[in-house]
Parts: sequence; structure tokens; C-alpha cells
Amino acid sequence: MKGLILSGGAGTRLRPITHTSAKQLVPIANKPILFYGIEAMVEAGIDEIGIIISPETGGDIQTAVGDGRELGASITWLVQDQPLGLAHCVLIAREFLGDDDFVMYLGDNMLEQNLIGFVNEFTSRRASPELGSTGGRVAQILLAEVDDPRSFGVAEVAADGSVVRLVEKPENPPSNLALVGAYLFDKTIHDAVAAIEPSPRGELEITDAIQWLIDEGHEVAHDILVGWWLDTGKKDPLLECNRLVLDTIEPQLDGSIDERSEVVGRVRIDSGATIINSTIRGPVVIGANTTVTDSYIGPYSSVAADCQITNAELDHSVILANSSIANVARITDSLIGSHVDVDRSAHVPAGIRLMLGDHSRVELEG
Ligand code: G1P
Repeated sequence: MKGLILSGGAGTRLRPITHTSAKQLVPIANKPILFYGIEAMVEAGIDEIGIIISPETGGDIQTAVGDGRELGASITWLVQDQPLGLAHCVLIAREFLGDDDFVMYLGDNMLEQNLIGFVNEFTSRRASPELGSTGGRVAQILLAEVDDPRSFGVAEVAADGSVVRLVEKPENPPSNLALVGAYLFDKTIHDAVAAIEPSPRGELEITDAIQWLIDEGHEVAHDILVGWWLDTGKKDPLLECNRLVLDTIEPQLDGSIDERSEVVGRVRIDSGATIINSTIRGPVVIGANTTVTDSYIGPYSSVAADCQITNAELDHSVILANSSIANVARITDSLIGSHVDVDRSAHVPAGIRLMLGDHSRVELEG
């Protein structure tokens, strides 16, 4: 079995962070979202992984992942020149995939559950002799119950568990079962993606390709997701995801902590980080070579590498690498990009001085 991770896309919902960086590289507990997907595949025994990238952000993703060896994977890079849909990704991965079964995974999603059970069920089902060499099953999708399915692909499932209909972002959803972004396919999907036409939004939809499989009489099965799932494309879900993952980190104090500092709870401080006269109250991760001086870092904060936090208080926030925060009473519920500088100034006239990228958002204290 091979893996195909879709890691293109513009990330419009996470602007301005994604003006300069790929949404899949936004860190959760100081690790890029994409790495969690790669690790989940490797853990399920899949180490030959193709990653679809866009010309705009692909270079950064390649730099971050490298050849994948550190994550236990061997990576093949596949460039999608234009965002022409999830099924288009399968089309351009044809040569890499060959005739192998594969798991397709959306690189900006995070699941609490691993992929082991999902993959094993498909593999064992297809190998069981009483069901013929393929068991008739050519695809398996992962579904989650959601409150408002209209912004997702939505599935209608029959009493025997087979999927009978799929619609992409329907006005009137046939159920509350949304497609989560993990799919298993055999080679029949290549006939499907070649047969379908672009949707009204101009994309080759994977939901249409799966519908084609159903209409041709193939079995498409489903699993219901266990645990949380976050489509991390927006700030608040991203902070929520960061909170959930920080609750599971292994505490480890590799950096230096002076005797005037207090570190309490589930905290990871990476090597080269320095904590001076500060309180760190976990769950918190502090990246390598970051310096925290005269500050308070409260629960559910991830501060990436090479940051300076000085005379400041923050909690429930994600700070990307190389940023500096000084002399601020309390930053909360915030996502701060890399190379950002937040400071208090004694300049007159007194006032708030901002230099913000396009699509930035500032909420001042009420
Ligand atoms: C895509 C899929 C949709 C799926 C969703 C999951 O939508 O087209 O079927 O439910 O991912 O995140 P997109 O995020 O591209 O709008």
C-alpha cells in the first residue's frame, strides 16, 4: 500500500499566516500539521508516500520534510500546477501510484485516531478469499458526524454500511456524515478520475469519482471516525487542536531553567531554550533556542524555536518561529506568525502603532 498526501491549496482561511507559508506547515505543539499525517501513515506501515504540492508553497514544504527519512518515510514529490481538485491529484499521481492500493489523506487535517484500524480493515477485507480476490470493495472512506455538513463532502449510507451517495458541499445535506479527508482506494479509482467532468467550481471532485465507483456497481465502505478531528484551516480550530495535542505531550526539560523560574505541569522545553525569572505553567512547549525572560507562559501555549519572550504574559496561543514579544500584559487566544515583533513603545503621541500584513486581525482589549 502507498500513501498520497495532498498538500497544495492556498489556505485562504488562515491568512495572513498563509500569505507566506503553507497551511500544512503551521505547527501544532511545535510540529507541522503535515508531519502528523506522515507519521500516522508510517505507523500504519505505509512508507512510500507521494506528496502533492503547489508551485507557490511546495518549496517550503520540501525543505521542511526533506527526504522524509527522519519521519521513516520515502517521499515522492508531485507538483499540481493549479488547484484543480482532489480527484485531479489522483490523476497526476497515476505513475507514482501504479496499480497499488493507496490511502489518500488531506495534509491540513488532524485526526485523534491513528490510521491502523482503517487501513487494516480494507487490506484484510480485500484479501479474504471468500469474498474473491478483492472482496468487491474498491474504496473505503472515513466519516464523522458534524453539526453543519454543508461545508463538507456528505455521505448517505445504507443499512448494510455501504455508501450509496456522496455530494460535495450540498445545500440540503442527505445526512450529517461528513467526509473527513482520509480515503482508501484500489486501482479502480484511476478509471473513475478519468471518467468524471469538472464540477461547477471547476474542480475534479473526489466525491464525484467515488460516486462513479458506486454507480458502476463497486462496493464503497465506510468507517466512522473515533475521537476528535480538526480541519485546521482556521485560527480557533487550530488553537483548539493545539490544546488537545498539548494535553498528550511527554514532559521533557532539555533547556536551561534558572533557579528563579518555576515550571509546573506538562511542559516540554527543547534544548538551547533558556528560561529566566519566569513561570511556565503547562501544558506548554517551548522550542529550541527560545529565550523567555521575566514572563509568564500559561496553559495551552506553543512557542516555536528562536523566539524571544520578554516581560510578557501569554496563554492559549501559538507563536511561530523567530518572533519576539515584549512588555505585553496578556496575550491570549492568539496565533502569531514567524518573524513578528510585538512591543510596547514610549513614543509620543501615545497610541497603537501597527504594521500588519493583508488579512491580519487585531482584537484590542475592551
Ligand atoms: C475537502 C473535500 C470534502 C471534505 C473536506 C474535509 O473540502 O472536498 O469532501 O469533506 O475536504 O476537510 P475542502 O477542505 O477542500 O473545501
